[in-house]
Amino acid sequence: MITVTGATGHLGRLVIAALTGRGVPAAGITAAVRHPDAAADLAAAGVRVVPADYDDPSTLPAAFAGTDRLLLISSNAVGARVAGHANVIRAAAAAGVGLLAYTSILHADTIDTLLAADHLATEAALRAAGVPYALLRNGWYTENYTAQIPTFLATGTIAGSAGTGRVSAATRADYAAAAAAVLTTDGQAGAVYELAGDDAFTLPELAAEITRQTGTEIRYQDLPQADYAALLTSVGVPAQMAEIYADADRAIAAGHLYEPGGTVTKLTGRPTTPLADAVAAALT
Ligand SMILES: NC(=O)c1ccc[n+]([C@@H]2O[C@H](COP(=O)([O-])OP(=O)(O)OC[C@H]3O[C@@H](n4cnc5c(N)ncnc54)[C@H](OP(=O)(O)O)[C@@H]3O)[C@@H](O)[C@H]2O)c1
Repeated sequence: MITVTGATGHLGRLVIAALTGRGVPAAGITAAVRHPDAAADLAAAGVRVVPADYDDPSTLPAAFAGTDRLLLISSNAVGARVAGHANVIRAAAAAGVGLLAYTSILHADTIDTLLAADHLATEAALRAAGVPYALLRNGWYTENYTAQIPTFLATGTIAGSAGTGRVSAATRADYAAAAAAVLTTDGQAGAVYELAGDDAFTLPELAAEITRQTGTEIRYQDLPQADYAALLTSVGVPAQMAEIYADADRAIAAGHLYEPGGTVTKLTGRPTTPLADAVAAALT
């Protein structure tokens, strides 16, 4: 049995699709989710759906019973997720799970960014738990940008603090395919994967690609980190997240989210989604 937590999220759903695409029968997959009602479609497709809340340890033993391989998808509660992740890790160890794969962040042990703290703490909890584990250190999602294309088009601007730093982004579907490859391949205990897109781009290049495809002139406006954070809060982003996003841009400017390894492609056997294709998909 392969169990996927956070299976009602964007990445979790794509992982389940990638697992079935690799021939795993739906009955061999458990979707461990906070709100089972939101997984009715997965249940209808034959996936076992069980309640599992990272922050409620009483839900976890039944969810993980019979699990051979578990994917722990990091919670989206940035800054308040380590305790929940540790609950999952402890429960997985107690259930005798044969492999726990965790979605960490690219270069977690060397990257200089606020976002890495939760992931580093979770990686430490994994090492301490004694459960066999693999680290899926995911890079930036291309969708972090393509989801904002309507705003870019409305304002004619991509604002940021990333300068001309290159970011090796890949789509969620690319990362999901890599996760499914790890979950369906033997001998993964101890593996650490730095996962990223094959082709890196800068934010000026992103602006140029959107301009090329839409005919609307989009320019990249580079701002000091504090000014970018202030801009984000001015449009309603909570202050903590604005600080985190601006800090992530600083990390991109410094090259911390650039990764030339091609590891996703090595795992999946196919190239990652080019930026042009991701932009085109978002525009349709
Ligand atoms: N690499 C990147 O650029 C990037 C960007 C954004 C996020 N991320 C990280 O990658 C993760 C997956 O991405 P995504 O796009 O799938 O995010 P998402 O759509 O927000 O999904 C997050 C999932 O985590 C689940 N979750 C949160 N807290 C939980 C808890 N206490 N117990 C059980 N489940 C819990 C959510 O459950 P519900 O469905 O019930 O809400 C949701 O299914 C994110 O959570 C975040 O850690 C990475």
